[in-house]
Amino acid sequence: MAKTVLVTGGCGFIGVNFVRLLLESREDWQVVNIDKLTYAGNLQSLQDVAHHPRYHFVRGDICDGVLVEELFSRFTIDTVVHFAAESHVDRSITGPAAFIQTNILGTFTLLEAARKQWLSEGRENRHCRFLHVSTDEVYGSLGDAGFFTEQTCYDPRSPYSASKASSDHLVRAYFHTYGLPILITNCSNNYGPYQFPEKLIPLILNNALQGKELPVYGDGGNIRDWLYVRDHCEAIVKVVEQGRVGEAYNIGGHNEKKNLEVVELLCDMLDAKVGMLQSGKPRKSLVTFVRDRPGHDRRYAIDAGKIAEELGWTPKFTFETGMDKTVDWYLDNRTWLESVMDGSYRQYYEKMYGR
Ligand code: NAD
Ligand code: TYD
Repeated sequence: MAKTVLVTGGCGFIGVNFVRLLLESREDWQVVNIDKLTYAGNLQSLQDVAHHPRYHFVRGDICDGVLVEELFSRFTIDTVVHFAAESHVDRSITGPAAFIQTNILGTFTLLEAARKQWLSEGRENRHCRFLHVSTDEVYGSLGDAGFFTEQTCYDPRSPYSASKASSDHLVRAYFHTYGLPILITNCSNNYGPYQFPEKLIPLILNNALQGKELPVYGDGGNIRDWLYVRDHCEAIVKVVEQGRVGEAYNIGGHNEKKNLEVVELLCDMLDAKVGMLQSGKPRKSLVTFVRDRPGHDRRYAIDAGKIAEELGWTPKFTFETGMDKTVDWYLDNRTWLESVMDGSYRQYYEKMYGR
């Protein structure tokens, strides 16, 4: 069915992969991407689709209610897929204010615009959907056993996860209070092309390529449940198309790994693909244990049974196939990585839009 989708944060890691998936696979969907272009937004990542006939980019802040409402009416938005957020836990510890602003107030601003546009009298809203993209981090930290289900109580531990939990609650409240047709997805850690090299996998790849130290927090025994980004994006499309309004869906790939395992695997893959370090040593020799992150959640693991049973979604990539594609992508796109590292990616807005 034809849709006009407002993608928020479409120049971030997952947003870029999502916009690409929609342009490739949904021929009757228009895509409007609103992105503030914070440090995490990279227009260069969508350079080749900038003039695609079904794609429109708007540089803007989701906290700007006037702009957001104007976009809803200008493009007759019927679907929102809301990615825009401050997303890095470490940054939320040193500077939480932006997380509160964008993740909570920005989500509120979008909800209000959708409520005004979709629920005013006489409007046809049967096909409208507001999908809020959230994280498994809202559930807190697991012990050695068990999984997060959609029934797990919220127990966020970092300013990032608390701000996401807060926005999840607001989104759910708009369903119960106003009948806004919302959906929520809570996904585990993603990896893949176009991820900003402050997150574990691209940071380690970048440092290992340059022969720099590989910082591992604490004892390296914290566990994350990794999902290849394309699988996450396909799950989101499924939820938009077939999800039950008002419901939350957990998304994950049953790929629990200790951080040290991930780092060592990346080292081995790079040694095999590009050769050992100049010193002749393996890249594992660069591993450096550093001071732990405060409040560092020990283990995340997702039970994705509901989305599998209700919507028939299961991941297509294993950790091995996904990591192989990811390492190859970073090796083939070194100029992308270099432009992020030297900051020149920030000039793409002027290059592409001439302002
Ligand atoms: P990211 O940090 O790579 O990208 C965020 C994007 O949002 C950037 O393009 C940035 O410019 C934009 N943005 C930030 N503030 C904005 C504002 N006020 N107005 C408009 N745009 C703004 O994040 P990501 O890793 O792509 O994550 C996307 C979403 O998915 C987030 O909501 C995150 O909580 C959620 N999520 C991420 C993961 C993960 O592993 N990365 C896992 C589960 C859920
Ligand atoms: P990260 O990619 O920041 O995602 P999140 O904190 O949202 O899970 O980190 C993934 C894991 O890797 C987390 O347990 C923290 C750890 N980590 C390191 O050990 N070293 C690093 O340099 C980074 C960035 C993360």
